[in-house]
Amino acid sequence: MRVTVVGTGYVGLTTAVALAYLGHEVTCVDKNPAVVGSLSAGRPPFHEPGLAELLGETYRSMHFDVALTPETAGADVLLICVGTPPQENGDADLRYVEEAAAAIAEVLPAGAGTVVVNKSTVPVGSARRVESIIRDGLERRGVEARPSVASNPEFLREGSALFDTFYPDRIVVGAASDRAVNRMRALYEPILEQTFTPPTGLPRPDGQALPVFLTTTPTSAELCKYAANAFLAMKISFANEIGGIAERVGADVTEVMRAVGLDRRIGLRYLGAGAGWGGSCFGKDVHALLALGEQYGYELPLAAGTLRVNERQRRAVVEKLQQALKVVRGSTVALWGLTFKPNTDDLRDAPALDVARRLVELGARVRVHDPVGMERARRENPDLAVEYADSPLTAARDADAVVLMTEWEAFLHVDWQAVAGQMRDRVVVDGRNVLDRDLLTRLGFRYWGIGR
Ligand SMILES: NC(=O)c1ccc[n+]([C@@H]2O[C@H](COP(=O)([O-])OP(=O)(O)OC[C@H]3O[C@@H](n4cnc5c(N)ncnc54)[C@H](O)[C@@H]3O)[C@@H](O)[C@H]2O)c1
Repeated sequence: MRVTVVGTGYVGLTTAVALAYLGHEVTCVDKNPAVVGSLSAGRPPFHEPGLAELLGETYRSMHFDVALTPETAGADVLLICVGTPPQENGDADLRYVEEAAAAIAEVLPAGAGTVVVNKSTVPVGSARRVESIIRDGLERRGVEARPSVASNPEFLREGSALFDTFYPDRIVVGAASDRAVNRMRALYEPILEQTFTPPTGLPRPDGQALPVFLTTTPTSAELCKYAANAFLAMKISFANEIGGIAERVGADVTEVMRAVGLDRRIGLRYLGAGAGWGGSCFGKDVHALLALGEQYGYELPLAAGTLRVNERQRRAVVEKLQQALKVVRGSTVALWGLTFKPNTDDLRDAPALDVARRLVELGARVRVHDPVGMERARRENPDLAVEYADSPLTAARDADAVVLMTEWEAFLHVDWQAVAGQMRDRVVVDGRNVLDRDLLTRLGFRYWGIGR
């Protein structure tokens, strides 16, 4: 099948590479020439485990361009995967999606029956919006074509994006026409039937069930993405809310949530208390859901509470440091981890950046280390007055406290004896509840977890 992917960020590129691996003829279109240059050389412009290797296998059979052409717009399937950042009022900014739709309308050839797919996370009504932009453009050009528009929300997680693409729980397609549904089913058939040979390094998990192919209206498909992200964020916020009460009554939230999550109705995942969630999606999508509620005069107290708990949680780390050190001004803090979670270089809405900024405001000297996020952090936050250290150990030199913000594997295996030898005072704030509290206590650290 001929597939065009517009917007090759975390979602677009992962999808494009996976579809090329599955044998489709894929063209990637990104308006950023630097991105296209990097992809044409077989290099992903961001960090995602396994992506460089798989792109290395597929890029020679793929095409890369900075703009759509009649040929690429007229593909069998065109996936719109551009960003939908938040606007001031919380609603999603559809400008890039609309730009992409206008670009399609500009070049779509006569007779084309392209299925245009919103894979970006978009508010309800966006499939109709895209459809009308394309229809108007075609009318203006006097071109007869019969594209149809479908919604196919993406659920992949950064850090395991390829895994999630090859082994999803479900694929949701919201479309008004059977033609669009059938084309989407054919596009994903190797994944739906699990008939492909797994890529190197991505073995099919034992007992992998076939993904559910769920067809809905475009509106249900659009809403389900917001609902899914709001629910995941709410699960984490719930664990954090219970964590706060656990601290006050002398319980340990990790024990409490394990007991809660072992109930199969609830499940263990996304119940980790800590310094709060971040990333490009949860905050943006919960805000967009609230904006939708506002447009309809409908209150969404669970979604609102999810955000409130998360904002409070980010402050918890600094409060613990204040309790442990008493005076933060003049102290040196080693901050381990900048990215919003491990195995990504994504810093969008990362709790660590908030904590770093707050500590600098409070007069601390902040020395950060992150295995992959530092270059990007420097580039994207030139005003952030922190020092960048080339290892966790260097960050801890003469520090009064270590604050773990991102649970990178590397931080779980540090030589704590060596860290202790570097530090001036021995305080550890474990913002992810992943460190060995007993070991640290034995080594003379004062350990502060979250909710325990
Ligand atoms: N990142 C995730 O984990 C994730 C998961 C599920 C869904 N989503 C959703 O997918 C969408 C994309 O997210 P992302 O993180 O991949 O975005 P991103 O910011 O990483 O990438 C977007 C890309 O689109 C390009 N672009 C923007 N406008 C364009 C245009 N008119 N023509 C061509 N290229 C254009 C940009 O240059 C950029 O490379 C968003 O709606 C997001 O909410 C993201």
